[in-house]
Amino acid sequence: ERYRQQRAAGAAVYDSDSGSWSVYTHDSVKRILADYEHFSSQMQENPSEDEPIEGSILRRDPPKHKQMRSLIAKAFSAKVVEGMEPQIRKIAEELLDRAASSGSLEVVSEFASPLPVIVIAELLGVPSEDRELFKGWSDDLVGNDYARYLQCQKEMAAYFRIQIEDRSKQPTDDLITALMQSCMADENGLSELEVIGMCILLLVAGNETTTNLISSMIMCLERSPETYGELRRDRGLIPGTIEETLRFCSPVQVMERRVKADMDWNGHAMQAGQRVYAFIGAANHDEGVFADPERFDVTRSPNPHLAFGQGIHFCLGAMLARLEAKVALHVIVDRLERIQRLEDGPLERLNSDMMFGVKRMRIQV
Ligand code: HEM
Repeated sequence: ERYRQQRAAGAAVYDSDSGSWSVYTHDSVKRILADYEHFSSQMQENPSEDEPIEGSILRRDPPKHKQMRSLIAKAFSAKVVEGMEPQIRKIAEELLDRAASSGSLEVVSEFASPLPVIVIAELLGVPSEDRELFKGWSDDLVGNDYARYLQCQKEMAAYFRIQIEDRSKQPTDDLITALMQSCMADENGLSELEVIGMCILLLVAGNETTTNLISSMIMCLERSPETYGELRRDRGLIPGTIEETLRFCSPVQVMERRVKADMDWNGHAMQAGQRVYAFIGAANHDEGVFADPERFDVTRSPNPHLAFGQGIHFCLGAMLARLEAKVALHVIVDRLERIQRLEDGPLERLNSDMMFGVKRMRIQV
């Protein structure tokens, strides 16, 4: 409802308290995210060495962004991701089997959260026993404690520095080795700190987001038993279900940019240094683009949602996230006749304005 009112308020809405802008319509969110000439992704003037994420690809503008992206794309290729499918299936099946013996599954902590953490740990080539550590870091990074946020980037940097040292002595066939080989090969490549930033970003950008995609998908299907029945009869609806969940429950609700120089943007006087919040979650419910936007419709076509962003920063992990969601849903549809919640009452949402997801949901298996 708040998003609907804000969309009606115009292309950009100024908040004089924080001196920042917010955009809510599909058209303006799409344009702001793609317009790197006027809107920078670098939020800090001089990112410090203590915050590798601030110096990572997510926060860089061209030409540095392009250099990083092409180096990383070599290591994190479609072939590498597609090759993960059998392992992802095995992990998803094991997680469900473990729950089956108890008769119930807590969707978030027992399925949607461990799945992406184990997958990225295997891809990077770090022991999956370390996943409690990763989970703790992911939580601290999206939490509200700034001291913890900084401390945890230090811990992660130290962790990956050791991983990189190990592989410079003994290369393996994992993603860290591939990143080192493609990124640090010559003087035109990336620094060790930049590779560390990339490892951290891969670890954290993909976990919470994919967890929320998978659990929201199960939540939407629990609320729509007819759709679940159709999926059981026709697995061809699975990709549409994933896209519609991305639109309907966008895991990343908002991304930020910084105005590069004073300018007039659609009649709004924006000033250098001001922040702009692009509300992806609102754009994906824009009634001007999506007919009947509050309806969860797995046959919606086209479905031009902006859940993975737009333009040069378009999510590097989109293929992996879609693959994990697809395999997760296949495994569930294969095994569960229906999705039945074991508790009554409303589901509790994550208390975050940035991320959308449910805290927990117990279902029968
Ligand atoms: C960028 C969303 C999963 C890695 C982005 C952006 C969005 C996004 C909106 C654009 C940020 C911007 O424009 O500033 C999501 C969602 C996911 C997901 C909704 C799951 C459903 C993943 C996964 C990985 C990943 C699994 C990797 C393992 C990245 C990276 C970038 C990025 C590295 C930065 C790309 C660049 O700056 O060029 N993601 N993501 N994401 N994502 Fe994802």
